[in-house]
Amino acid sequence: MKPALVRVEDLTVRFEARERVVHAVNGVDLALAEGETLGLLGESGSGKSVTLRSLMRLLPPRRARIGGRILFAGEDVLAMDARRLEDHRGRSVAMVFQEPMLAFDPVFTIGEQIAETVRRHEGVDRAGARRRALEMLERVRIPGAARRLDAYPHEMSGGMRQRAMIALALSCRPRLLLADEPTTALDATVQIQILLLLRELQAELGMAMIFVTHDIGVAVETSDRIAVMYAGRVVEEGTARDVVRTPRHPYTAGLLASRARGAPRGTRLDAIPGAPPDLARLPAGCAFAPRCAQAMAECGEAVPPPRALGGGHAARCLRAEGSHAA
Ligand SMILES: Nc1ncnc2c1ncn2[C@@H]1O[C@H](COP(=O)(O)OP(=O)(O)OP(=O)(O)O)[C@@H](O)[C@H]1O
Ligand SMILES: [Mg+2]
Repeated sequence: MKPALVRVEDLTVRFEARERVVHAVNGVDLALAEGETLGLLGESGSGKSVTLRSLMRLLPPRRARIGGRILFAGEDVLAMDARRLEDHRGRSVAMVFQEPMLAFDPVFTIGEQIAETVRRHEGVDRAGARRRALEMLERVRIPGAARRLDAYPHEMSGGMRQRAMIALALSCRPRLLLADEPTTALDATVQIQILLLLRELQAELGMAMIFVTHDIGVAVETSDRIAVMYAGRVVEEGTARDVVRTPRHPYTAGLLASRARGAPRGTRLDAIPGAPPDLARLPAGCAFAPRCAQAMAECGEAVPPPRALGGGHAARCLRAEGSHAA
């Protein structure tokens, strides 16, 4: 069998403040094959961004305690030294964010920033790096790309900046792209254009992608598989089709039902009554149990392990057992 490009095993991340310890990620397992897209879904605070940042080790080193293992092409990311990490970021894995202004430095032009990244990672000369920057802007279909090379980030519209950030992320042809809600700040038409563009580029470059979103519809359109997170755990995972057609975790079912009730596209996933738990005081059992209409006494005793439901579909729910033919 082909080894996974990414394998995350029992990832835990906690943030230590003086009197509070926030348990942001609590035992996440993920595997992603070369070229595959995984959609990461869950409401605000469920640990999606922290999980992505862990893959690039982009967490504040003094406050964040990371446990478990992250293997990228078989290499232990948590054991990489500073030099290796520099190479890993950008060349192997790149990230696009919700807010492109954060990815760019306001005092340099778009072209300078892309060219600098290419020079740093690939040792290309100035002219070659500028050529690559132009090629990337053309690839993400920025009109008048040659002129845009010399534009500053604030001189572009939101949609164009988002494209430029994708160009920056892809400039060193990473094997994995981490997309952290890359379209939520944009209006609907531009969102769809960016999603289509990402899909095309992904196929063209053969990249794997982890796509974070609040929107089940977007997850289904972009992803081969979906992992649903709740309170720092993956509560359900499977092919996009299985998760959406036969959700086995009441949390996923709740998300889908709120969407089916006619919540407009792009609505944040907060339509389930109740609130997520305090991550500094997680319950001993299933973290969703206090909001779950189907909870039983047992649900409060221990965190349910993932139950395999066949075809790579799994749910961390005691009720999921035996309810689905393997
Ligand atoms: N640097 C940090 N220091 C302390 N706590 C943090 C830090 N980064 C994240 N957290 C906490 O970790 C938890 C998970 O955050 P994360 O950003 O991963 O959520 P998310 O699922 O991406 O949410 P959203 O959909 O709102 O982006 C939150 O409670 C957040 O406050
Ligand atoms: Mg986030």
